[in-house]
Amino acid sequence: MTWRIPLADVNLGEEEVSAVTSVLRSRWLTMGAVTQEFEEAFKDYSGAKYALAVTNATTALHMACLAAGLKSGDEVILPSLTFVATANAICYTGATPIFAEICGENNLNISVKSIESKITSKTRAIMVVHYGGYACDMPEIMRIADAHGLTVIEDAAHASGSFLDSRMLGTWGKVGCYSFFSNKNMTTGEGGMAVTNDKNIFKKLSLIRSHGMTSLTWDRHRGHAWSYDVVDLGYNYRIDEMRAAVGLVQLRKLDSFNEKRRQITNLYIDLLHEFCPEITIPFENHPGNSACHLFVILLPEGIDRSGFMEQMKSAGIQTSIHYPLIHKFTYYKNDPLVACQNLPLTEKIAEREVTLPLYPGLTEEDVIYIVQTISRALHR
Ligand SMILES: Cc1ncc(COP(=O)(O)O)c(C=O)c1O
Repeated sequence: MTWRIPLADVNLGEEEVSAVTSVLRSRWLTMGAVTQEFEEAFKDYSGAKYALAVTNATTALHMACLAAGLKSGDEVILPSLTFVATANAICYTGATPIFAEICGENNLNISVKSIESKITSKTRAIMVVHYGGYACDMPEIMRIADAHGLTVIEDAAHASGSFLDSRMLGTWGKVGCYSFFSNKNMTTGEGGMAVTNDKNIFKKLSLIRSHGMTSLTWDRHRGHAWSYDVVDLGYNYRIDEMRAAVGLVQLRKLDSFNEKRRQITNLYIDLLHEFCPEITIPFENHPGNSACHLFVILLPEGIDRSGFMEQMKSAGIQTSIHYPLIHKFTYYKNDPLVACQNLPLTEKIAEREVTLPLYPGLTEEDVIYIVQTISRALHR
């Protein structure tokens, strides 16, 4: 279907095209100098001590779980209102996801109170998700984690360029994981980054990324090593030079992309207040500086969400749901350890959620048209 206004759109220019072309011409395609440059640039941008580029955020999250030593019998607390990858990464290690409630209508992030109520003798980690790029209460979450000896992993898939107290989201916990999937604030097509400030964790992540090998093809090409040992069970979670080249260009543009997203978010808020006051807008006046990855609304109670989305579709506007709750998916419900978990507040709020289009290329006219369409759909 061709949308008049899609949910998301990539923002690519000639710079990305020529960056990829120059990699292809160099004839070195697998992880090498361009990837190292991308990692250095992301490290500097984020303020983290170490950064590792990987195939996507899901693999970054899996690597983080492995580096945290998670295994069968361990419990990890996370929200259910997130993309399934957050929970899958935990399950890959055999650990059990324990879903906590969100804060409420104005804050769709994991609730600190709920986290505390879920801690048991089996809890090993907390995996937070900065929903839409809006900060979880990291000072409080770090305090609880320290008090209980828990590892904090940040799913910062939405948070490239989000800050809280001048510190980038993803650099508060032990490992932060970013996504460069094509609908994200910066993209490499598929791609991701893991950051950490811990040297030992960085070494572990490096091994996990490449089959637990002590040297890489790139090291051998440069004559730095002849052979290698395998000292850990690892994976092939390596990025390639074409993606790293796109990532380098996109990272340079990230602040201007995010600024545009903030302006569009503020326009949505102003127009919705004026023309659709019955709509609830989560994260208004939220602490920190969000990268504004998503713009989400909560419909008034009693409104048929599918009918509403259908009317938006008839006007050529693509909307979405972030997210169908993980603990309600068939696969997860079939796990008796998950089936018994209830999240009444999350369930009540999530059924009213609708995501509106948001990307740097969205125009003021587009936003006006979207809000007019919402108003018509609500007042029919
Ligand atoms: C919250 C969240 N976590 C993890 C992921 C997984 O990212 P990737 O597609 O890069 O594996 C996504 C992707 O959309 C996401 O939205």
